[in-house]
Amino acid sequence: MTRLRRSTTLLSLLLGLLVCQQVQGEPAEGCFPAIFAFGDGQFDTGTISGTFPTILAYDHPPYGQTYFKKPSGRYSDGRLMLDFIAEALGLGRISAALQTVTSDYSSGATWGSAFSTITSVAAGHTAGPGLFLSPFGIGVQVMQFVEFQLSVNSQVNKQARLMAKLRGDFTDDAPSEDKKKKKKKDPKKPRYFLQEINNDDEMKPLAVNMTLLELEAPTMRLPKKGSWSNALYLIGTGGHDITNNLNNGKSIKHVEDMFPRLINTLGESLTRLNHLGARHVIVFGLEPQGCQPWLLTRIRHTADDLDWKGCLVKYNNLVQNFNRMLRNQVANWRQSHDGLDIYYFSQYDVKIGLLTNDTAGFKSTNTACCGVAGSTYNVNLMVPCGPPAMDPATNMTETPTVCSNPNEYLYWDGMYTTEAGNRYVIQQMLTGKYFDIPFPLLTEKCVVNPLS
Ligand SMILES: *[C@@H]1O[C@H](CO)[C@@H](O)[C@H](O)[C@H]1NC(C)=O
Ligand SMILES: *[C@@H]1O[C@H](CO)[C@@H](O)[C@H](O)[C@H]1NC(C)=O
Ligand SMILES: *[C@@H]1O[C@H](CO)[C@@H](O)[C@H](O)[C@H]1NC(C)=O
Repeated sequence: MTRLRRSTTLLSLLLGLLVCQQVQGEPAEGCFPAIFAFGDGQFDTGTISGTFPTILAYDHPPYGQTYFKKPSGRYSDGRLMLDFIAEALGLGRISAALQTVTSDYSSGATWGSAFSTITSVAAGHTAGPGLFLSPFGIGVQVMQFVEFQLSVNSQVNKQARLMAKLRGDFTDDAPSEDKKKKKKKDPKKPRYFLQEINNDDEMKPLAVNMTLLELEAPTMRLPKKGSWSNALYLIGTGGHDITNNLNNGKSIKHVEDMFPRLINTLGESLTRLNHLGARHVIVFGLEPQGCQPWLLTRIRHTADDLDWKGCLVKYNNLVQNFNRMLRNQVANWRQSHDGLDIYYFSQYDVKIGLLTNDTAGFKSTNTACCGVAGSTYNVNLMVPCGPPAMDPATNMTETPTVCSNPNEYLYWDGMYTTEAGNRYVIQQMLTGKYFDIPFPLLTEKCVVNPLS
C-alpha cells in the first residue's frame, strides 16, 4: 500500500509536470512568456558577479540588504527594474545567462552586464582611470544570445526526439499485450505516456519511472515554447560610453560626435535580434546621469554648473542629446524592420519627474545611501559602497555606512539606484505615459500585477 501511494504520488507529480509544461507552451494572449534583456548594470542580475566573482564591491554586503537579504549579483540594495517588470508580468526571476549551473531560464534570461558599453572592447575602447569595463559589449551579448538560442533549441529538439521514441514504447495498452498487437494499434487513438490509476486496486501497467522526469528536467528550466518571438526584449545601454570617454579626457564635442556611430551599432544589434525572432522591444533611454552622486563627486564643478535640482547641466544636456537621437532612431527602426513592435522608454523623464515629485517619498535624489560619510554626496571614489577598504589618499581603512532608510534615496551607491527608485521607474513605465508611442500590449492587454 505504501508502495502504491508512493507510485501514485510520483505519477501525479509527473502528470502535473506534463500538464504544466503544456499550459506554459501557450502564453496567454497579449502577454509575454519571457523577457530577454541586453545592456548594462540596470539589467545585470548576475552576469558580472558570475564571471568575475567577488572582485567587485557589489558581491559583498550591504548590497542586496533590502530585498534579497544578501548580495544577489545586482548593483542595488534590492530588486532592479528588470525584476519589477518580470513581477508585473507574472514571470519568475530573470537569471543571468552566463550563470549557468543553477539558473532557471523558464521566464527568460539577461545578458545585461554592469559597465557594459555599445562600443566594443575589441576596438580598443577602455574605461579610463579608476573604472571597470565589462568585456560584454552589446555586440558580444547578442552573440551570446545566438549561442543560447542554438543550445536551447538543440536541447528541446533532442528531448522531443526522445519523447517521440518513448511514446512508441509507452502506450495505454496492458503490459501483457505482445508487441504484434501494439503495432496494429489505431494511429488516431490517443496514446499516453502515462497510465491512469485504477484507484481501487493496483496501478495499471507502468510506464512511469524516473526516466520521464529526467527527460523533462533539462527543458523545464529553459524558455517556454514560443518565447523567441513572443518575449519582451529590453535594451538599455550607452551611459558608460559617454562616461568612459569623458573619463579618458575626451571633450563633450568628441563624445557628441560619436553618438550617430553608437546608435548605429545599437541598431545592428537590434537587427540581429529581430532576425532571431525579437518582435516586442523596449529601448531604454539614458537616465539623467548628471544627477549621479559619483559623477557629481568626480567632476569638478561650481554652483553655476548645477541646475536647481543639483544636477550637472552640461552632462544632462549631453545625455538628452543622445536620448533625442535614440528616440528618433527607434521610430526609424520601427519603419525599417518588418513586424518590429519597438518602443522608446524615457527613463530620463521619469527620473527627472521623480526629482520634482513631492509625493514619491524620496528625500534625497543626489546623495548616495551607501558610502563613506563625510563628503557632499556621500561618495568616496576610492572606497565604494561594500566592505571596508584602504583609502590610498589617506592610508586609512574606511568603512562605508548605509543610510537608515534606503527607500528615501534614489541612489544606492552613487551610481546605481535603490530598489525604491527602480520600483518607481517601473510603476511609471506601466502607466504607459513615458513611451514614445502607446504600448497597449504591455500596459493594457497584459495582466499586470501590482508591484510589491
Ligand atoms: C524506465 O523505463 C524504461 C523503459 O521501460 C527502462 O528501460 C528503464 O530501465 C527504466 N528505468 C528505471 C530507473 O526504472
Ligand atoms: C509622484 O509619485 C507618486 C507616488 O509614486 C505617483 O503615484 C505619481 O504618479 C507621481 N507623479 C507624477 C507626476 O509622476
Ligand atoms: C601611504 O603609504 C604609502 C606606502 O607606505 C606611502 O608611499 C604614501 O606616501 C602614503 N600616503 C600617505 C598620504 O600617507
